[in-house]
Amino acid sequence: MILNTELEYKGNLFPSKIISYQKNLDTLSFTTDNNVVLQITVQRDSILRFRYTTTGIFEKDFSYAITKYASKGYNFLEVTEDAEKYIITTSKIICHVAKLGMRTSLFDAKDNVLICEDELGFHWEESYELGGDIVKMSKSAQEGESYYGLGDKPVDNNLKGKRFENWVTDSYAYGKNTDPIYKAIPFYTGLHHKKSYGIFFDNTFRTFFDFCNERRNITSFWAQGGEMNYYFIYGPKMSDVVAYYTDLTGKPHELPALWTLGYHQCKWSYYPESKVKEITSKFRELQIPCDAIYLDIDYMDGFRCFTWSKEYFPNPKRMVKELADDGFKTIVIIDPGIKIDREYSVFQEGMEKDYFCKRANGPYMKGKVWPGECYFPDFTNPEVREWWSNLFKELVEDIGVKGVWNDMNEPAVMDVPGKSFPDDVRHDYDGNQCSHQKAHNIYGMQMARATYQGLKKFAYPKRPFVITRAAYSGTQRYTSSWTGDNVASWEHLTIANLQAQRMCLSGFSFIGSDIGGFAEQPNGELYARWIQLGIFHPFCRTHSSGDHGDQEPWAFGSNITSIVKKFIELRYQLLPYLYTAFWRYAMEGVPILKSLVLYDQSDAHTHYRNDEFIFGEKILACPITEPNAKGRRMYFPFGDWYNYWDDELIEGGQELWVDADLDSMPIFVAAGAIIPKYPIQQYVGEKNIDELVLDVYFKLGEETSQVFEDAQDGYDYIKGRYSLRNLKLLGKETSLIIQQFKSGKYTTSYETLKIKFHGLPFKINKIQIDNEVVLFKDAKFSGENTIVISKEFTELHITA
Ligand code: GLC
Repeated sequence: MILNTELEYKGNLFPSKIISYQKNLDTLSFTTDNNVVLQITVQRDSILRFRYTTTGIFEKDFSYAITKYASKGYNFLEVTEDAEKYIITTSKIICHVAKLGMRTSLFDAKDNVLICEDELGFHWEESYELGGDIVKMSKSAQEGESYYGLGDKPVDNNLKGKRFENWVTDSYAYGKNTDPIYKAIPFYTGLHHKKSYGIFFDNTFRTFFDFCNERRNITSFWAQGGEMNYYFIYGPKMSDVVAYYTDLTGKPHELPALWTLGYHQCKWSYYPESKVKEITSKFRELQIPCDAIYLDIDYMDGFRCFTWSKEYFPNPKRMVKELADDGFKTIVIIDPGIKIDREYSVFQEGMEKDYFCKRANGPYMKGKVWPGECYFPDFTNPEVREWWSNLFKELVEDIGVKGVWNDMNEPAVMDVPGKSFPDDVRHDYDGNQCSHQKAHNIYGMQMARATYQGLKKFAYPKRPFVITRAAYSGTQRYTSSWTGDNVASWEHLTIANLQAQRMCLSGFSFIGSDIGGFAEQPNGELYARWIQLGIFHPFCRTHSSGDHGDQEPWAFGSNITSIVKKFIELRYQLLPYLYTAFWRYAMEGVPILKSLVLYDQSDAHTHYRNDEFIFGEKILACPITEPNAKGRRMYFPFGDWYNYWDDELIEGGQELWVDADLDSMPIFVAAGAIIPKYPIQQYVGEKNIDELVLDVYFKLGEETSQVFEDAQDGYDYIKGRYSLRNLKLLGKETSLIIQQFKSGKYTTSYETLKIKFHGLPFKINKIQIDNEVVLFKDAKFSGENTIVISKEFTELHITA
């Protein structure tokens, strides 16, 4: 008898000929004679979902990424066919599906321009090892196409020519081009002929993306299991693509409390209590604003989560209260590994309830982390998430902790190959039991989600605050994030800038880096330059590893301290501006930082720019990322820009040298912008805001700005208690009009606005407010070109 023990290797397999087509409401199904089914679902006029099976049967439709709040519905849908293809038309997209081979092409419905086209299209390889298919997709790159996105990849903005892997990985001291690192966000945007689209490959297995790396004109993506399941999102504006993607995978469920946008100080670790107090007192003594202080793993008893070291923190409740009285919110770290210790209640409960992850053939998943040998809750089980969320009751409700920092949730395991769970570990996956191959990339996300649920419950009526290291698409609904264990080097300052921009472009705006670098120690110059960048990141925290010396704003001598203070103060002044940008992100999915390509995709110069970015809607910033610099060259995108420091006006569309000694950095404000500012406070809420400053930057022509305010915490804003000022500026040679349209039921604490004009081309001669002339002697001038008026004005008219 001859036994054939060799597996037959069939290579790439392809769909054959479409033999049937069905339409069921918003979903079209095409079946080939070799049993491949393609389902195209019209999510919106500008979003099509493509889902393939090679067996004729789909898995249960389940996604952690897609939010139930995603917009759905279309205005127009028509399906026709000719001899070669089916033609699906919405009001935004035309999609061709070839009858032979099932390849698809997508066109702009307005002008029929080809946007995205399959090369080989969907194909697959059978994998005996993995038990399923390796599902693949390849597309032809269009002429001049560039690519952006993919979460936290520490590489230049434009991804063209590179290949990437998505597998969340603990990456201590990663470097430029290290891949993969902490996050898996399988979403990218393509841009060619001034039009942009996005692809979100919603597959949680290990996925890969190749942007013209293996083959010059081909972009492909594939996964080691699961379905070929992706969303095509059409712009043509890249900012719309990102907003639609964010709508699909979710915007933050609530606005962050305003204090979370303040400055945070962290270290591994501040202990005992006297050390924590020494740090917080020093902030107040030096008058450097700070809102949050962090406790890293040493606050716990032997690294057991939800416990306190009695020696270092004998009375946490009292300490947290005292810190709070001084304006500091206490944030504590919580890791997923639960110490194996029969005396420890969290471990006991997890065992009793059978909540820990298990290996395929029975034993618990045992792994070493900070506490030594641990078991790990299966956060993909909703019951476990509920249990976990309740563990925060004491910390939050009783002790008064204001935020929780989830770390090591890739999950990180020490001293093992792959630095994580082995593939065979079992997960509930919300009732869709599977192995770690499928659950790995969402494990950290589900932990952060469970933590978020706990904070939401026990912090109520205040808003929750969570930080996570690991993330998958959609994690932005629950939490903020940082970029993991970076290094105190100039190169890492550049990387921090790239990562923050890329995360914002990937739907995740509440992001920042460990300012100054986590590993190793920065010198004062590097620290100062990093703070300058950091104040423009939505999440602004200094953090460092204890082994490498001090990293507080005063650790580098008085000259650096005053520079750091000046920039943190600027952050606090800009809080209403940043909060408004956050509100737009949370409402509309507009990223808080905009890479230049996102700001003006029609300008080819922006396609390869890395350093400059737009903060919010109107501020252009560019960090200095080299030592001993007295300034730098930078590119000014479309528009006119005022130098923040001296109001010099610069015309966009050119690259120029900008001076920036160590106490300065290139910051510019768009002409026509109205920038709201608060007074400098040592922490949010320290002062009653008795006047809102509006910095008005003159422009010949029209421009709009917004200011969003509310109670700065709590949920009243959802019931309409917010204050939104829509401001319209109209500048002419000899006059300037500002109109205000107000909405919302929140009454701000101040009565007046202090309006400061920048770049006025004329001397103010006459002021009219709401059509009434204000006599010069009655107008409240406050220095040259500054007037104080009622916050309720509807039209301000100044003339030469
Ligand atoms: C990890 C984290 C780091 C933290 C340390 C100790 O390295 O990334 O931020 O300080 O663990 O908890």
